[in-house]
Amino acid sequence: SKPCLLALSGSARRDSLNGKVLAVMACGAEVAGAEVRVVSLGEYPLPIYDGDLEDAQGLPDNAARLQQLFADHDGLLLTSPEYNGFFTPLLKNALDWVSRPLPDGSGQPGTVHVRGKPAGIAAASPGGLGGLRSLQHTRQYLANLGFLVVPEQMGVGQAGQAFTDGGELRDEDVRKGVEGVGAAVARLAMAVRGG
Ligand code: FNR
Repeated sequence: SKPCLLALSGSARRDSLNGKVLAVMACGAEVAGAEVRVVSLGEYPLPIYDGDLEDAQGLPDNAARLQQLFADHDGLLLTSPEYNGFFTPLLKNALDWVSRPLPDGSGQPGTVHVRGKPAGIAAASPGGLGGLRSLQHTRQYLANLGFLVVPEQMGVGQAGQAFTDGGELRDEDVRKGVEGVGAAVARLAMAVRGG
């Protein structure tokens, strides 16, 4: 069967540029033979991580749901805005919660529900660099969680003008670059599964 990839964006904003880039990345993965499920972090609101809160109440339901999503998928497609050179607090907070021990007490050390799974990253920005500065941090963070981050990546600059009304990237090279990230994750997911 096909590998199934989870697709997340660090922006839950309506009309998010990174949401549009994520859709293009998902297409690239699908053409390369994967299934993709796009999920909005806006549907999984979580408090800012607080150890006292976790001690008192355990893992929030939305954190457990996100952990289950990661456990159920074979890899990750990820886009995020760059905020002051970094990926967003929405993304960092959600994945910090995901990295906590599973409700049954397993999962640490080493976040078993993500370890060894392929991931691909991209960013989009109205500015010229396309969020490129954030990608090194996103890459390192995902690697720390145990993901295998593919070397392909893409920063989509001037993203406010980059898309057609239909959501397609106007520039051929940029489109191929973003699709290529998705395709690389799909191929690695198939290889990891031995298929
Ligand atoms: C930004 N933005 C931004 N852009 C950039 O290229 N480099 C940066 O460091 C920053 N920093 C930054 C900080 C904060 C707090 C905000 C709110 C915004 C602009 C950002 O790229 C722009 O708002 C994008 O449109 C956000 O992505 P989405 O929501 O369209 O996907």
